[in-house]
Amino acid sequence: MPRDAERTEAAGGGYTRFTRVRRASYCRVLLVVSTLCLLGPYSQLLRVTIPFCEQLGGFINHRHRPQLSPLLPPLQFKKDGSFQLSIFSDLHFGENAWEPWGPKQDLASLGVINSVLDREPETDFVVLNGDIITGENVYLDNGTQYIDKIAETLASRDITWGSTYGNHDSDCRLSPTALFEREKRYKGSRTARMVRGREEGVGVTNYYLEVQGLDARVEMVLWFFDSRGGFVSQEEGGGNRSKGRENWVSKEVVRWFREMSGRLKRENGGRSLPGLGFVHIPTGAFWEAQKRGINGKKQPGINGDQPVNRQGEGWCEDGMEGCEYGGQDGGFMEAVMEEGLLGLFVGHDHGDTWCSDYEKGGRRVYLCFGQHTGYGGYGSWIRGSRQVWVSIEGLRLREMDTWVRLESGKVVGRVRLNETFGRDEYEVVEDERTHLPVDEEN
Ligand SMILES: *[C@@H]1O[C@H](CO)[C@@H](O)[C@H](O)[C@H]1NC(C)=O
Ligand SMILES: *[C@@H]1O[C@H](CO)[C@@H](O)[C@H](O)[C@H]1NC(C)=O
Ligand SMILES: *[C@@H]1O[C@H](CO)[C@@H](O)[C@H](O)[C@H]1NC(C)=O
Repeated sequence: MPRDAERTEAAGGGYTRFTRVRRASYCRVLLVVSTLCLLGPYSQLLRVTIPFCEQLGGFINHRHRPQLSPLLPPLQFKKDGSFQLSIFSDLHFGENAWEPWGPKQDLASLGVINSVLDREPETDFVVLNGDIITGENVYLDNGTQYIDKIAETLASRDITWGSTYGNHDSDCRLSPTALFEREKRYKGSRTARMVRGREEGVGVTNYYLEVQGLDARVEMVLWFFDSRGGFVSQEEGGGNRSKGRENWVSKEVVRWFREMSGRLKRENGGRSLPGLGFVHIPTGAFWEAQKRGINGKKQPGINGDQPVNRQGEGWCEDGMEGCEYGGQDGGFMEAVMEEGLLGLFVGHDHGDTWCSDYEKGGRRVYLCFGQHTGYGGYGSWIRGSRQVWVSIEGLRLREMDTWVRLESGKVVGRVRLNETFGRDEYEVVEDERTHLPVDEEN
């Protein structure tokens, strides 16, 4: 797809062509569209949607439903040259709606998001790093609607976000394509689908976002990858959890990443733009880092999930299921190193919250787990959110800061990812746990 088309798609519309319509006929078009929109509820009977109505509706309903501008401005560094991200990993909404504890869990998870954002008011952008919904627990007719609660919470704070989908976001009753369509009803979602193909073949959430400096020059690129996994949805011919999805970033996506990265570099006068990557399932490099040893003082964080569950696990080299690890993520990790990403952020293993440095072929990347954010999903490790703070100046030196903001308000594992990270010593992170209060009725 040509770059411009991609840009337009990522920005959420194809509105430029309207500028060429003469003014008079533009008014006529607007009148017709407004009338059609008023008939909107009836149009649903005919199973047609009028794309323009959503924008218009959002505009009219602004007072009732907080929404951001239909055409989002690009992400931008603050005046002081800094940019902060809050990563919410493994929210696992939608578990057991038929029992009291299911909905209570979701409320608690929203509580974590709110508590973190209250204490991190400098957040410029949120990443939902996969397993947003527990797909195997939801109903076919309304499973995607759990994204509404998260989106409304972020929209009410005027914060925009980008998602990656995880293995639990695809199951026989939850299609990641349908989830994407639901998410894109919210103007604050910057999630995009830049690699065309089946959700089973390439996944959905493969895209990049540029972050501009004050002079509108691009200073950083955020890359999002879909590590797939889980089960093929009914929409794609799965069902009955009979068909597992490959659980690694597909080759096509790796090819797209290299191509786009090369193009951005050429556009930037041959200089690589600093990049951060987000993907749900860790790569084998995380497993290698853990095997080499996680030192509580040098790589502070919980190291409760051993060994790391990585991409390509459970698959054989020839693509059949049933082996320990097929190594299919190797090409992706090579591309991450060669394209010079500064950091790769994952979720998936709820009990691992450390960062480590990883070197290969003279290149270095920082690998970081998030913090389990949701009350759904396995494990009771304390909930929270990984924070990433970068500055234009720091990026030039390949440095950034990161810490975990816990639900309790405490900050743990604050480190500077710089040249001496891995040798510098920090405070050890305590292995705390959180539980929902158990009600009498349960
Ligand atoms: C989906 O439907 C079930 C059954 O009616 C209900 O319990 C649940 O709350 C619904 N979920 C959402 C997100 O609306
Ligand atoms: C689902 O799987 C079970 C066990 O493998 C099988 O008996 C059943 O026929 C399957 N149902 C459908 C609808 O495919
Ligand atoms: C890296 O950051 C740590 C913590 O701020 C600091 O002590 C150390 O000197 C830094 N290393 C370099 C090479 O700047």
